Amino acid sequence: MEEPGMFLHAPPKAAALIEALRGLGYSTETALADIIDNSITARASEVHLAFRWSGANSDISILDNGVGMDAGQLEQAMRLGEKDPLDERASDDLGRFGLGLKTASFSQCRLLTVASRRDASTSCLRWDLDVLRESADDGWHLLIGPAPESMERLSLLNSARTGTLVLWGRLDRIVTQGFSEQDFLDLIDRVESHLAMVFHRYLEGVRPRLRIFINGEPLRAWDPFLRSHAATWSSPEIQQSHGAGVIRLQGHVLPHRDRLANLEYEEAAGPRGWAVQQGFYVYRNERLLVAGSWLGLGNGRGWLQGEAHSLARIRVDLPNSVDADWKIDIRKSTARPPVLMRHVLTALAESVRQRAGRVHAHRQQPVNSPEHAEIVQAWRADHRKDGVQYRIDESHPAVRTVLDEAGLLLPQVRAMLRAIEETVPLQRIWLDEGKKNEAPQASSQDGSAEDIRSVLEVIYRGMIRRKGMSPTAARASLLRTDPFNSFPDLIAALPDEPVHGG
Ligand SMILES: Nc1ncnc2c1ncn2[C@@H]1O[C@H](COP(=O)(O)OP(=O)(O)O)[C@@H](O)[C@H]1O
Ligand SMILES: [Mg+2]
Repeated sequence: MEEPGMFLHAPPKAAALIEALRGLGYSTETALADIIDNSITARASEVHLAFRWSGANSDISILDNGVGMDAGQLEQAMRLGEKDPLDERASDDLGRFGLGLKTASFSQCRLLTVASRRDASTSCLRWDLDVLRESADDGWHLLIGPAPESMERLSLLNSARTGTLVLWGRLDRIVTQGFSEQDFLDLIDRVESHLAMVFHRYLEGVRPRLRIFINGEPLRAWDPFLRSHAATWSSPEIQQSHGAGVIRLQGHVLPHRDRLANLEYEEAAGPRGWAVQQGFYVYRNERLLVAGSWLGLGNGRGWLQGEAHSLARIRVDLPNSVDADWKIDIRKSTARPPVLMRHVLTALAESVRQRAGRVHAHRQQPVNSPEHAEIVQAWRADHRKDGVQYRIDESHPAVRTVLDEAGLLLPQVRAMLRAIEETVPLQRIWLDEGKKNEAPQASSQDGSAEDIRSVLEVIYRGMIRRKGMSPTAARASLLRTDPFNSFPDLIAALPDEPVHGG
C-alpha cells in the first residue's frame, strides 16, 4: 500500500473517454439545441444552421452573431471539464456543466471545428476523434486551425464582426449505412420542429429576441399552449418560491378538436403527437427542457399519458439557480421536481387534468360554456387585456335582494362587494381545488345542504313578498341560479305559502 500523500497520476485516456461520452443519448435535434444554448448565452440575435448533403462527407454548421471568443477563451471552451458545474452562473446563462459544446458535438460527429471571431481576429481549434484514436500517447491533442477540407466553410465567419461557427464534419452517427439524402431531409424537418418548440419563447413576438435560420429559411415559433386561440383556457399564474429562486406555474387546457381546423389540430399536437405532449412543460430560463411529462407525479406509480388528458399542458418556469434541486441532466432534457414542490405540482396538475378531461369528453368550450350561460351565477369573469377580473354579479338574487333592501347602507354594501372582488384568493382556491378528486362544483354540495336551505328560503321569500313573483315563477328562477340549481329537491320542497319571519 502507498503511504498517505502518495498518489498515481491517472488522467483518462482521451480517445476512450470521448468515445464513451458519445453515448450520452443525444439525438441530432437535442444536440443542436445545446449548441444554440451557447449562442443565446453569447447574446446572439441570429443563428444560421446549414445542413450540407454530400453522402459520407456531409456536414452541419451552426453560425451565430454572438460576442465570440478570443484565442484563450476558445481554448477553454474546447477543453472538457474546464468549468465547475457547481459555480454560480449569470442568471441568463443556459449552460451548466461546461461540456455541452463537446458532448453534444461528439454525439453526432468525429470532427469538431470551432472558429470564433472577436476583436477583429479569428481563432480556430478542432478535435479530431480519428487523430486521438491513432495517437500513441493517449493524449488530449487539441488541433490548431481547421482541417484542409473545412477551410472553405470557415469563410462563413469572415463577414461577421463577432460570432462563432461550430462545424460538425464526419457525421458518422448520422450518415450511417443506407442513410439517404431523403433521410437527411427528414432529419432537417425533425430539427426544425424540435427547435421551434424548444426556443419558442425566444422566437415569438413581433421583435423576437432570437431568429434561427435553417438553410436560409427563418424558423417559426411553436406555442405548446395555443395561447392565440380564443377557446384555450388558462389558469391564473402561481408563483412559488423555493430554495434559491421563484418558480412560476400556469395550467392550460387546449380547445377540443372540434373547435380547431384540421391543420390547426395537427400543428397543435406538437412534434411527438398529442398523447405524449401532455403534462408539464419545464422551462429553464425560458428554454424548454421537458416537453410534456407528468414527471412521475400522481397517485401510485404516476399518471400515464392517456388520451383523456391530452389537452392538459402546464408551464413550469425555473430559474437556473435551482438546477441542482431539479436534477437538470447534462443533455438538459430531464428535470425532476424536488420533494417540497411535489404537492403544489400535483395539486395544480389534478385540477388541470380534470378540466382537460371534461373538455375532451363533452366537447365543452372551456370558458363560458353555453349550458352555464343560462344559469345566473354569483360570480362572473371579465376578460380584460391585463388578465381576468372576477366580479360579483349584482343580478344574482342573493345579491339583488340585499342591494334592493340596503337603503342608506347601499354605498357601504357596494364597497364591501368591491373589497371582496379585489381580494379573491385565486391561488389558494386553485391549489385547494386541485387536491380534490371531485368536479369543482361539488364543493358547495358537501354537507352544506342545511346552509343552502336557509339561504334558499330567504331569497325565495324575498322573491314572493317583495317582488310579487308567484311561487312557481320563483322556483323556476331559482332552478336557473347557481348554486341552487344543484339542489332541485330543496327547491321542489319549498312551501307554496312562504314561512313567516324575517
Ligand atoms: N457560440 C458561442 N459563443 C461564445 N462562447 C461560446 C460559444 N459556445 C461555447 N462558448 C464558450 O464555451 C464554454 C463552454 O461551453 P459548453 O461546453 O457548452 O459548456 P457550458 O455551456 O455548460 O458552459 C461556454 O461557457 C462559453 O464560454
Ligand atoms: Mg453549453
